[in-house]
Amino acid sequence: MDCFQYRNGQLFCEDVNLDDLASRVGTPAYVYSRRTLQEHYDRLAKAFAALKPIICYSIKSCGNVHICKLLGERGAGMDVVSGGELFRAKLAGVPMGKVVYAGVGKTDAEIRAAIEAKIGWFNIESEAEFENIAAIAKQMGATANAALRVNPDVYDAKTHAKTSTGKKETKFGVDIERARRFFEHYGRDKHLKLNAIHLHIGSPIYSADPYVQAITKALELIDELRNQGHTISALDIGGGFAADYESGASPDAANYAEAIVPLLEKFHKEGGTIILEPGRTIAANSGILLSRVQYIKMGGKKKFVIVDTGMHHLVRPTLYDSFHFIWPTKVSPMHTPTGRSKEMNLPGLELCDVVGPICESGDFLAKERPLPPVARGDLVAIFTAGAYGMVMASNYNAMPRPPEVLIDGGKAIVIRRRETYDDLVQQEREAVPV
Ligand code: LLP
Repeated sequence: MDCFQYRNGQLFCEDVNLDDLASRVGTPAYVYSRRTLQEHYDRLAKAFAALKPIICYSIKSCGNVHICKLLGERGAGMDVVSGGELFRAKLAGVPMGKVVYAGVGKTDAEIRAAIEAKIGWFNIESEAEFENIAAIAKQMGATANAALRVNPDVYDAKTHAKTSTGKKETKFGVDIERARRFFEHYGRDKHLKLNAIHLHIGSPIYSADPYVQAITKALELIDELRNQGHTISALDIGGGFAADYESGASPDAANYAEAIVPLLEKFHKEGGTIILEPGRTIAANSGILLSRVQYIKMGGKKKFVIVDTGMHHLVRPTLYDSFHFIWPTKVSPMHTPTGRSKEMNLPGLELCDVVGPICESGDFLAKERPLPPVARGDLVAIFTAGAYGMVMASNYNAMPRPPEVLIDGGKAIVIRRRETYDDLVQQEREAVPV
């Protein structure tokens, strides 16, 4: 599942003892496992190999340029949603032809940069956006490829409302009816070649069924469009494959592929390109947030474990009520976890709220969570924090963001240094009249 495992009661990332690491880099710290990142990427590549897909890693899930670089070297393209993410992809040396660019609000400057870079496809979200990109391409005397983002009107009931996107009423893409008119109207543009379909139905999606439904609808649409004389050379099925927040709770790459690959074999054999946009399924289990217990406090009958990180570094629990397994890094044999789950059937656990230092009651990482006894100074690991962790971190309450450390076997490499107080005020050093 991942390379964060206990050895004789001590949590390791690959071959690095995390208590030793904390004494070198301090806490809080995001810690990633290179081997897990690579294995998760390789598993997807292997599971979908029959389709020879372009696997566009979704930078938004964990955008550190060193991580993008190592995935790029593995063969990944990138899914970007802003000029900033395009900049990261370039810096990571990813071939621009393997970059897809989604997002409902692309600005003119971002569009120009992407056309100049010769990215693979713009994923188009609306008529107005198509017209704007086509006009900019024409002005620049350039051509670009476009995929129309279609909402297949399917969704996974388990996906949180804030991250479900495949329904008809969403700000993303257009519904299937509108897609037909879209191609009639714009399908023959010379500068922005509308030659692909893009789907993204939400994140995380805990079963293959919604993909099967969405892809089936997309293939019907593609047949129709081809019959009308349009060229459809690529189908991008988006991201959203789940991660193991709880042991064994989500399908693995092979489970998704088993259901999806047979549907797409014909399209692939006829020369169609398949694109995947996985983020979380590669990054989530590859990272933890390492934190130190500051204080233990009672509030009425409730026990609070106050740690040196919180919603400012990992906003998912308070934003989506999401579950992240939390456990001390040093445990007795009796408390060595055999799996990660909400219910842990081990003796001597106590229900605790794990909370941070931010001045908001929403600043929690876990509520009513069974934990082995912990004391001031102990280290805890907040698991499966590699995706949508650091990228969504903020400086709220003027808290510097943690460093990011990449573990490679027995080596630890700081791939983003800890922010300083000086970093916090860098942009405010001058007051400039305009
Ligand atoms: N493609 C598109 C067009 C997307 O919008 C997303 C995610 C992905 C791919 C990658 O999805 P993934 O494979 O990582 O599930 N902050 C939320 C997740 C928001 C996802 C936004 N779009 C969270 O922490 O759960």
